[in-house]
Amino acid sequence: MKKTQKVLWGGRFSTSLTTETVAFTHSIEADTRLIGYDIWGSQAHAIMLARQGIISDADLREILRWLRKAEADFQNGDFVLDPNKEDVHMNVESYLIENAGRELGGKLHTARSRNDQVLVDAHLYIRDEILNVQRGLSALCDIFLQIAKEHADTVMPGYTHTQHAQPISLGFWATAYVSMFLRDQKRLQSAYRLANMNPLGACALAGTTFPIDRALTTKFLGFDAPHEHALDVISSRDFIAEVLFALSLVMANLSRISEEIVYWTTYEFGVAVLDDAYSFGSSIMPQKKNPDIAELTRGRTGRVYGALLDLLTNLKGLPMGYNRDFQEDKPPLWEAFDIVKACLGLLPELLRTTDFKTERMAELANANFATATELANYLVKAHRLSFRECHEIVGWLVGELVKQEKTFADWDLTQKLLKQKNVGISIEQLKQILDAVSALRNNQSLGGTSPKEVRRMIGEFEAQLDEIASQIETCQTQIDDAHRETLRIIEEVLREPVEMVV
Ligand code: ARG
Repeated sequence: MKKTQKVLWGGRFSTSLTTETVAFTHSIEADTRLIGYDIWGSQAHAIMLARQGIISDADLREILRWLRKAEADFQNGDFVLDPNKEDVHMNVESYLIENAGRELGGKLHTARSRNDQVLVDAHLYIRDEILNVQRGLSALCDIFLQIAKEHADTVMPGYTHTQHAQPISLGFWATAYVSMFLRDQKRLQSAYRLANMNPLGACALAGTTFPIDRALTTKFLGFDAPHEHALDVISSRDFIAEVLFALSLVMANLSRISEEIVYWTTYEFGVAVLDDAYSFGSSIMPQKKNPDIAELTRGRTGRVYGALLDLLTNLKGLPMGYNRDFQEDKPPLWEAFDIVKACLGLLPELLRTTDFKTERMAELANANFATATELANYLVKAHRLSFRECHEIVGWLVGELVKQEKTFADWDLTQKLLKQKNVGISIEQLKQILDAVSALRNNQSLGGTSPKEVRRMIGEFEAQLDEIASQIETCQTQIDDAHRETLRIIEEVLREPVEMVV
C-alpha cells in the first residue's frame, strides 16, 4: 500500500497514512468554501494571542502576513487545498509552517484545537447563509405582496380537500404565503441567534491553561457572546439542526407553492400560465409546456429533509466531546443551503411573470356551489334559524340541484326548492348572496378574505418585512464591522493597507 507524507499531528506515529485512508477521511471538497472563514478565525485568534502576551508582536506580524498571503494565493490558485493534509484547518496551518517556518507557523495553533476551529468556520458560514436565505424569502414575499395589491378583489375558488370550498381572492391567497413565510423568517432569525455564539476558545474540549480572552475573539468575529461551556461547545451541532429544520420548512412551503403552480397551470384548472422563459417543452410532444422549475423545487425538498434527518441520526449516538462523525455535518448542510438559495433565486421571478387567468378564476369561483356557505349564513341572519338548521336546508338544496344536474344559477328552481323549505327569497336577493364577489367582500372578519382585510394585512406584512430587512441589515453590519475591525488591526500590525476578501 502506498504511504502518504507525514501529517502535522504525526509525532507519535511511526508510519504515515495509506492513500486509501486519506481518501476515506479527508474533507477537502466540503471544506473549500470555508477557507475565508478559517483564515478570519485564525487572524482573530492570533491577534488575541498577541494581546494576551501568549505570542510576541513580532510573531503576530509574521503570522498575519502569511495568513494574508495564504488568502491571496488561494484566490489566485497558487494555494490549492491538499487532501493529504486532511482538512482546511491543517492546510492553512501547513501553509504557514511551510512558508514561515516551523518555529513561527507552529505558534498559531497555541490554545486552539481543530475542534473549536471547525465550529468557528461553521458558525461564520451559517451566519452569512442564513442572511442570504432571509433576503431570498423577503424577495419572494415582495412578489406575493405585489400580486396581493393587484388582486385584492380578484375572486378565485378557495379549496379544502382540493374541492371547492368558498370564494377567496387571489390577493388573499398571495398574502397567505406571506403570512407563512414570515414564520420562516422568524425561525431563521432564531437559528441565527443560536449560530451567532463564539465557540473559539473551547479548544479541544476542556478549555486551556493559556490566559486566552474569549471576549476579544467574540468581538473580532462579530459574535454576540462566547458559547461558554467548552465541553458543550465541542459536542454541539444542534445549532446546525435548527438551521436544517428552518430550511426544511422553507422547502416544505416552497414545495407547496410549486404544487399549486403545477396544477394551476394544467389545462383542467387553467388559472395560471407560466412565462415561456420559465417553461419547458418535450422532446417528442411538440405541444407541451411544462412547469419543470416548480416540479424540481418540489422534487428537491426531500434532499433538504434528508439533510436534517442525516444530522439528527448522526447526533443521537454520539458521546460528549468531538467525534469524527461531526465532519459529516457539512456536505448535507451545504446542499440544503444551495438548494434553498437556488429555489429562492428563481421562484420570485417565475411568479412575477406568471399570467393569472382571472376570468377563469371567477368562473370557477361561481361554479360548483362554492357560495353555499354564504346562503346558509344569510338564512341564519334573515330567518333567525340555527346555523345547523340552515346548513341542513342548503345541503338539501344542493343535493336536489345536483340530482337534477342544475346549479344555483338556475334561479327559478333554486327559489322554488327553497320555498319547499319555507324559505321565501327573491331571485334578486339570491343572485346577490350567491355571487362570489359579494361573498368575498362580506367576509370581513379579522383575517378574512374581504379586500378590506387583505389590504390591511398587506400593510401589516409590509411593516413586518421592513422590520426583518432592518434586522438583516443589523446582522450584516455587525458582521462587516467586526471583519473591518479585524482588518484594521491587521493593517495596523502590518503597517500596510489590507482589503476585505471574504
Ligand atoms: N475536519 C474535521 C471536521 O470537519 C475537524 C477536525 C477535527 N478533527 C479531529 N480529528 N479532531 O469535523
